[in-house]
Amino acid sequence: MARKITKAVFPVAGLGTRFLPATKSIPKEIMTLVDRPLIQYAIDEARAAGIKEFIFVTSRGKGALEDYFDHAPELENSLRKKKKINLLQELKSTNMDSGVIAYIRQHRALGLGHAVWCARRLITPNESFAVILPDDVIEAEKPCLQQMVEAYEETGGSMVAAMEVPPEKASAYGVLDIKEDMGSIVSVKGMIEKPDQDVAPSNLAVIGRYILSNDVLRNLNKIKSGTGGEVQLTDAIAAEIDADRDVYGFRFRGQRFDCGSKAGFLQATVAFGLAREELADEFFEYLSHMVSERHAAE
Ligand code: UTP
Repeated sequence: MARKITKAVFPVAGLGTRFLPATKSIPKEIMTLVDRPLIQYAIDEARAAGIKEFIFVTSRGKGALEDYFDHAPELENSLRKKKKINLLQELKSTNMDSGVIAYIRQHRALGLGHAVWCARRLITPNESFAVILPDDVIEAEKPCLQQMVEAYEETGGSMVAAMEVPPEKASAYGVLDIKEDMGSIVSVKGMIEKPDQDVAPSNLAVIGRYILSNDVLRNLNKIKSGTGGEVQLTDAIAAEIDADRDVYGFRFRGQRFDCGSKAGFLQATVAFGLAREELADEFFEYLSHMVSERHAAE
């Protein structure tokens, strides 16, 4: 059976409170690492994995996100006249063809699971799909979702990206209970959202890349109508295990930055800044200077 993933859901309806006041008027996903907004990294990763249709779950105040993917004829003409071909190329990577991008509203921030559920009518029955959280930015030689799509072609089922975290940090994540460890792929017998440190079943934590079977949407239907608080995506994936369907964790190769937190965003800025040829020398010199000044002051 061909296991092709061509749709990705981008839940971007969160309130982004950790970045207030900036996120009062700027969507978190428009914040930039060097010169590219977080959402551009996510889109590039999706395209590399073969995604053809992009579904954004948005909310009030996210207009800048929709504008970002629109064509900008005046700007493009002006760059063309000035023969700024490189910039024109850069701009082209932000354009989306008509009809490949859809925006769905999540009217209230009821949680990640609810946001994914909001996209249900755009996913064909029995179709599996990807979910990308743009505030998890992953630096990798082969983009993370592409690694996952390749692994999924072998396994089927549902798959979550996972990484080892120190035991004291596990309570900040969804954590996998491992059935069988096969190296980069692990089969999973349970998932717990934000467990206390002493009950965490492993230190393999779920991060923001998923390939989900359509059954997960059906599980969300039930969970959605059952609870008043946040609807957790983890619970809907864990319900797959209860129904005896396969769930896998995938240890991706690469470094993940939690750009939903200030410290993670700053770390990513340094890493992506140093990775830019045109900035690396000057930036490195500046950072080294800062570090030695800091040491001298201590
Ligand atoms: P976060 O847990 O980072 O929440 O959401 P947040 O609202 O974006 O940020 P803080 O915690 O207030 O600072 C993880 C992902 O899930 C999406 C977010 O947009 C983000 O991509 N999300 C979360 C939704 O789309 N809807 C929700 O109701 C909650």
